[in-house]
Amino acid sequence: MDFNEKNATDAVLDSFSKIKDKRLKKIMNSIITHLHEVVKEVEPTEDEWMKAITFLTKTGQKCDDRRQEFILLSDVLGVSMLLDAINNRKTKDETETTVLGPFHAPSFTMSYGENIAKNVVGDDCIVSGNVFDVNKNLIAGASIEVWQSGPDGLYDVQKEGDVVDLRATFISLEDGSYLFRTVKPQFYPIPVDGPVGDLLNNLDRHPYRPAHIHFMVKADGYKDLVTHVFIDGDKYLQSDTVFAVKKSLIRKLEKGFDSDENKECYHLEFDIVMEKK
Ligand code: BEZ
Ligand code: FE
Repeated sequence: MDFNEKNATDAVLDSFSKIKDKRLKKIMNSIITHLHEVVKEVEPTEDEWMKAITFLTKTGQKCDDRRQEFILLSDVLGVSMLLDAINNRKTKDETETTVLGPFHAPSFTMSYGENIAKNVVGDDCIVSGNVFDVNKNLIAGASIEVWQSGPDGLYDVQKEGDVVDLRATFISLEDGSYLFRTVKPQFYPIPVDGPVGDLLNNLDRHPYRPAHIHFMVKADGYKDLVTHVFIDGDKYLQSDTVFAVKKSLIRKLEKGFDSDENKECYHLEFDIVMEKK
């Protein structure tokens, strides 16, 4: 029988009958069922379909070892955060997770109290807290990777050259504490010089993320934790373009004094609660 609108989906699903990998079969069945539904509902013209193919082609062409436009696409369409929600269902009082983002990169280990802001000028800020488990036991020796953008809204990896800045790895002390110096984070736009930027523009959406610092925390026997701390009062907290804000991750930026360096600074307190594996 000819392939037609009525039998199209079954014809493709039948072609998967020999797939041995059960998970692959489930994924392919689901993708084809939903994709065909979309095509039947929207009835794209051939020009519209070609536009979609061109968009995906440009998305791939924009990727290199410093730029991942497909992750960005998944982020702005809420797929990354949906995946986060499904894979990290909260069970107890552990710190909530949020999106990794495309700017995680290797960093050097620094000591308690060191400043991660080496090549930028901004408002001084101390970030500190303790690493616990859900029963309030302090965790020593946890690895705490942090990264953030500068006052210009850019991460080091978005700039020319190989300078590592505004990122580091700290190890929690015997009493579970960590502390580092940095500059106050700012809200910033995600990269808009590619197809994802064009898409946001066509959808009348802004590209901004509220001010935050990224954390990736690892400790023996505990689940790796990927999260951010957000700054209370930021004007983009309600409309993060990648849908990554969770209320439990918002903290007040307090005005304080850095007595070791004898100067005024901001202070951000962020305790981290790890969940057993
Ligand atoms: C980030 O916070 O670094 C980020 C997350 C998702 C998309 C773009 C940037
Ligand atoms: Fe970020």
